[in-house]
Amino acid sequence: MWDSFFLPLSVAALASAAAVAPGWHFVQNGTTGVLALEAIIVSPTLAIFFDRASNDPLMIDGHAAWGALWNLETNKATALDVVSDTFCASGGFLSNGTMVSVGGHIPAITAATDGRMGIRIFEPCDDPNGVGCTLFEDQETLHMAETRWYPSSLRIFDGSLMIVGGIHERTPFYNTDPVNNFEFFPPKDGGVPRPSEFLARSLPTNLFPRVFALPDGKVFMVANNQSIIYDIEKNTETILPDIPNGVRVTNPFDGTATLLPLSPPNYIPEILVCGGTNTSDLIQPANLSSQDSASDQCSRMTLTPEGIKKGWQIEHMLEPRMMPEMILLPNGEVLIVNGAQTGYAAFGTVSDPIGNQSNADHPAFTPSIYTPSAPLGKRISNKGMPTTDIARIYHSTASLTPSGNILIAGSNPNGEVVNGTEFATEFRVEYLNPPFMSMARPTLSNVPKQIGFNKEFTIDVNIPSNLKASSIQVALMDLGFSSHAFHSSSRLVFMDAQLSKNRKSLTITSPPNNRVYPPGPAFIFLTVDDVTSTGERVMVGSGAPPPVADQGIRL
Ligand SMILES: *[C@@H]1O[C@H](CO)[C@@H](O)[C@H](O)[C@H]1NC(C)=O
Ligand SMILES: *[C@@H]1O[C@H](CO)[C@@H](O)[C@H](O)[C@H]1NC(C)=O
Ligand SMILES: *[C@@H]1O[C@H](CO)[C@@H](O)[C@H](O)[C@H]1NC(C)=O
Ligand SMILES: *[C@@H]1O[C@H](CO)[C@@H](O)[C@H](O)[C@H]1NC(C)=O
Ligand SMILES: *[C@@H]1O[C@H](CO)[C@@H](O)[C@H](O)[C@H]1NC(C)=O
Ligand SMILES: *[C@@H]1O[C@H](CO)[C@@H](O)[C@H](O)[C@H]1NC(C)=O
Ligand SMILES: *[C@@H]1O[C@H](CO)[C@@H](O)[C@H](O)[C@H]1NC(C)=O
Repeated sequence: MWDSFFLPLSVAALASAAAVAPGWHFVQNGTTGVLALEAIIVSPTLAIFFDRASNDPLMIDGHAAWGALWNLETNKATALDVVSDTFCASGGFLSNGTMVSVGGHIPAITAATDGRMGIRIFEPCDDPNGVGCTLFEDQETLHMAETRWYPSSLRIFDGSLMIVGGIHERTPFYNTDPVNNFEFFPPKDGGVPRPSEFLARSLPTNLFPRVFALPDGKVFMVANNQSIIYDIEKNTETILPDIPNGVRVTNPFDGTATLLPLSPPNYIPEILVCGGTNTSDLIQPANLSSQDSASDQCSRMTLTPEGIKKGWQIEHMLEPRMMPEMILLPNGEVLIVNGAQTGYAAFGTVSDPIGNQSNADHPAFTPSIYTPSAPLGKRISNKGMPTTDIARIYHSTASLTPSGNILIAGSNPNGEVVNGTEFATEFRVEYLNPPFMSMARPTLSNVPKQIGFNKEFTIDVNIPSNLKASSIQVALMDLGFSSHAFHSSSRLVFMDAQLSKNRKSLTITSPPNNRVYPPGPAFIFLTVDDVTSTGERVMVGSGAPPPVADQGIRL
């Protein structure tokens, strides 16, 4: 599909393109200051990185920082004042645009407090440089019901965050001190967590469960080799088929998973799970090796009664990957990036660690593209993809940016910041630029700041004259929260759109309701003939704090 970029371009388009030839490129620019163990885009120009409170080089108030604001325009990091330890936490946006960071650990340094019950609030930040934007934390009055290290989180249909699983505190490798329940922020059920049989069944490799909001409001979950659909309103679980061939996909056996793009009129959900390992979870960590092959298996299932009956469909990546990330792209394809070809997540446990403490080895340096609409066996390709020499293994992150390229940062398979060894702490940022970054691109203007559900709205567009506009895709996206090879709340909903005859305006129909797109912030990207615009930020729904009532029309 990317080959279409090499069709003749008009002279005007060529003249406006940058000096780089169209194609995928890695570009290294800037350093993160704190290890980018978690990453989330919080505004059109800013990302937040969180690390463990330890010995990062970026300083604040005379001590090492463990949070930073990353400016996507200047490629510079500024320290964030964080109260509690954000080590191995999760997070996401609420329906009113506030970002919430949840969970964490007992700090290694005295500058931080215990973050395991942490709830950290980052209100919407309007200043492009983040001036005056900060995290709010009041551990006395604002905290979770449970201590949670390695939890997942997910924005659900009423705009709240669902917080899933985790571990109470440090154990050697597997989840042997589990938090087998869910809770919500803001709290539901009087703040009493809901026990989960699924989490109990999926021990001991069920950390950072991969959880997704389905278009009917239910939640799909995969942990270890098991999967369910959880009905939040009825508090019931429906068991789905296991991931085939003994492949396990959650920490410390991290594969990754994504909800494939949802399209009108039926928004049929399909789940794709890739990587991990077929190693038994009964083996003691001391008998695992950094040289054990990861799994190259991808498993895909359509979450309709017929799809579930058919079960998981199997395909294979071009290489095995432990800790890959999958990034939804505005044209509906999925980028597979990062990870290692052998070994495991976590650090300092296998019999033969690499460098200081890495449980993994043989980084996967070349990304692949997964094309959901291609026939089975022909979906995964790395044709035209560049190769990096920066390892992105344990504690690395990746995210689509509002510019349409992919921010890649982090990697530290070690207990603290180390230097001078193989797989040392990695501070360098790389962007993976798609071909359209060096071409004339469509632009959007007069985009409303807020859109309701099941509404038509019209925006202005400028489409480069060399594009025939034979294909128009409008994507509504949550860019997700990247932590531990999982992009929680990440979502792409395609919207029907009509281009005016003069190609100057686009009339778009928003998603039918708050279950198809959980209410909250989003970016709108326009892709014309596979050339994607910059994303424009919108608030989807009323913008009220959670829980919000159902909006739009039921499907
Ligand atoms: C790095 O980013 C800065 C700030 O945006 C920019 O001026 C510079 O050209 C970039 N360098 C490279 C190699 O892209
Ligand atoms: C999933 O794991 C369980 C526990 O190890 C095992 O009994 C079961 O056979 C596995 N399922 C598949 C399909 O391999
Ligand atoms: C590792 O495996 C060997 C057999 O290969 C066994 O004797 C030993 O007890 C195992 N050690 C652990 C920690 O599981
Ligand atoms: C487990 O995975 C490895 C590496 O992909 C593969 O060589 C092996 O055949 C798999 N074993 C089983 C039982 O599927
Ligand atoms: C790992 O690095 C830490 C900090 O530099 C050091 O204290 C420790 O001895 C190192 N461990 C190994 C196994 O190299
Ligand atoms: C690691 O060590 C090298 C060589 O001593 C030095 O140039 C580099 O700045 C160090 N990196 C960090 C992040 O401390
Ligand atoms: C959003 O809602 C959360 C949860 O009620 C609240 O803490 C936060 O202050 C709200 N922010 C805004 C901007 O309304």
